[in-house]
Amino acid sequence: MCAKPIKKEPRQVETTGHQWDGIEEYNNPLPRWWVWVFYATIVWGIGYTIAYPAWPLIKEATPGLLGASTRADVKAEIKAFDDANAAIKERLISADLDAIGADPELAAFASRAGAAVFRTNCSTCHGSGAAGFEGKGYPNLLDNDWLWGGTMEDIHLTITHGIRHNDDSRYSEMPKFGADGILDETQVAQVVEHVLSLSGQEHDAALAAEGATIYLDNCSSCHMEDGSGERALGAPALNDQIWLYGGSRAAVTESVVNARFGVMPNWNERLSEDAIRAVAFYVHGLGGGE
Ligand code: HEC
Ligand code: HEC
Repeated sequence: MCAKPIKKEPRQVETTGHQWDGIEEYNNPLPRWWVWVFYATIVWGIGYTIAYPAWPLIKEATPGLLGASTRADVKAEIKAFDDANAAIKERLISADLDAIGADPELAAFASRAGAAVFRTNCSTCHGSGAAGFEGKGYPNLLDNDWLWGGTMEDIHLTITHGIRHNDDSRYSEMPKFGADGILDETQVAQVVEHVLSLSGQEHDAALAAEGATIYLDNCSSCHMEDGSGERALGAPALNDQIWLYGGSRAAVTESVVNARFGVMPNWNERLSEDAIRAVAFYVHGLGGGE
C-alpha cells in the first residue's frame, strides 16, 4: 500500500525473514553482557525459589530449603521475651494485690506492661490518656471519682469480669423511669430539677422541691439521699460536677427517661492474669487509686 521507496541499509545484516508491508526485521544479536546478566537472573531466581518460601500451594507456600519464615522469627522473638519475663510475671501473679506497689522492681514492670496493655485494649473506650469521653459514658480513670471503687481490689475485679457484660460482671440496672412509665413527664421534669439542684446548677426551685420527694422514693436507694452515689451498685454521684453522660438538663432528662446501661467487656477471657494485674496496677497509679 505504501508507494514511497524504502531506503535500503547499506550494512549487511541478517534478517529474521519476517516482513510486513515491506518492513523487514533485522536479526541483531543482543549485547553479550546483557544476555549473561539475563541468564544469571534466571539461575538466581530458580535458586531463590528453592532456598526461600516461594510457590503457593493449597495451604501454604513451599517452605524453601533454608526454612526462612518471618512468622517463626516473630514467634521466637515473642517467646524469648516471654521467657525473659516469666519469672517476674510469676511474681506478679502470686503477689498480694496491695503489695505490688511496695516492690520497686515489680511495680516498674507492672506499670510498663500495664501501659502497653492499656494502649492496646482500653484506649479505644477510655482514651489514650485514660481521661475517658465525658458525656458518652466512658469514665475518666485519672480522677478519684469512681463508679465501682478505686482500690486495687476493686479495679482488678472490674477489669476481670467487666460491667453488665455477662453473668459474672458487676451488675446493676437503673430503671427506665420515663420510657417504662414509672414516672410521668411532670414527675421526670421535677426530679431532673432536683438533680440539677444537687449538683449545684441553676434550677427551678419550685419544681426541684416537688422533685425531692420523688427522688427520695425512686432514686435515693441507689444514688443516696444526698446524691453521693453508691459504689456497690455502680451508681454515680449526682452531687458533683463529674458526669458520665452529661449534667445538662437535657442529658439528665435522657438518663432518667431511658436510663443508660453502660457496658464494659470482661477481660478474663482475653488477657492473662498477669496482664490484668499489670493494667489494674497501671490504672490504679494514674492518679485516682485508693
Ligand atoms: C468497649 C469499651 C470499653 C473498653 C474496651 C474498656 N472499657 Fe473500661 N469501661 C467502659 C465503660 C462503658 C465503663 C463504665 C460502665 C458503667 O457505666 O459502670 C467502664 C468502666 C471501667 C472501670 C470502672 C471505673 C470506675 O469509675 O469504677 C475501670 C477501672 C475500667 N473501665 C478499666 C478498663 C481497662 C483497664 C480496660 C482495658 C483492659 C477497659 N476498661 C476497657 C468501657 C470500656
Ligand atoms: C437501681 C439503681 C438506680 C436507681 C433506682 C436510679 N439510678 Fe440513676 N443510675 C444508676 C446507675 C447504675 C447509673 C450509671 C449509668 C449506667 O447505667 O451506665 C445511673 C446513672 C444516672 C444518671 C447519669 C449520671 C451521669 O453521671 O451522667 C443520672 C442523672 C441518674 N442516674 C439519675 C437518677 C434518678 C433521677 C433516679 C430516680 C428517678 C435514678 N437515677 C434512679 C442506678 C440507679
